[in-house]
Amino acid sequence: MPTLVHLSDMHFGQHHVAQLDAVVLRELAALNPDGVIVSGDLTMRARHTEFAQARAFLAQITQPLLTIPGNHDQPILSPRDWLERLTHQYARYEKYVCAPIDATLTGVGFFALGLNDNHPLAPGGFWSHAQRAWVAQQLDDAPRAALKIIATHHQLAWEGKARPAGFWFPARALALLARHGVELVLNGHTHVPGALQTPHGIVIVRAGTALSGRTRHGNGNAYNVITYDEKQISVFVRRYDAHADAFVAARAFTFPRRQAKD
Ligand SMILES: [Fe+2]
Ligand SMILES: [Fe+2]
Repeated sequence: MPTLVHLSDMHFGQHHVAQLDAVVLRELAALNPDGVIVSGDLTMRARHTEFAQARAFLAQITQPLLTIPGNHDQPILSPRDWLERLTHQYARYEKYVCAPIDATLTGVGFFALGLNDNHPLAPGGFWSHAQRAWVAQQLDDAPRAALKIIATHHQLAWEGKARPAGFWFPARALALLARHGVELVLNGHTHVPGALQTPHGIVIVRAGTALSGRTRHGNGNAYNVITYDEKQISVFVRRYDAHADAFVAARAFTFPRRQAKD
């Protein structure tokens, strides 16, 4: 059965828990997933040193990899960096991690899109007109039988909570994704793992922070393992256990695939 690993919010820099790097890499080697998708916030303050650390970590992932930037991956609004923040806010991400920023990954039975939903001034969580058109075109050109996946940093569903944790126009975005056959959305940003299924049948998965001490609401460090077949999508949240020095099974979700329901 195809397997994906969903990592997020590694936040290299302040609060990075360096000892977890080797644990995650060891488990990725053991799982050998068909793809690894990283849903943003690779750094804490978008410093060059932090991006260099992120790049060194990502270089050790041997599986097919898709990354997107998070809001923390833009230079901060400081006297030194504000101009770069406003004019070339993704230059460091492109230099150290990935260019172009909006990218795709095609693997065994899946087609994944990574879409940058950040903004240099407003809280992120929206797409430009050009991005919406690109998403539609990419999804329409994707292999028909593929599981269509999109990764965005901000939340497309956040259990009733409003901005700024989530997307500006989630209903509009989800309707677009539903029209073009997306079945799985991968989000980061909140550092709170979880999964749900929308009325469209789209499965929305949040990842916790894999490598940062900035854990939230009692959730420790975590990442997700996702498997799927023709009928269902399963999400396994793995949480770090210090005694085992390993990420262990914490929660599991299984959802019917929307194509199987149609
Ligand atoms: Fe984050
Ligand atoms: Fe974030």
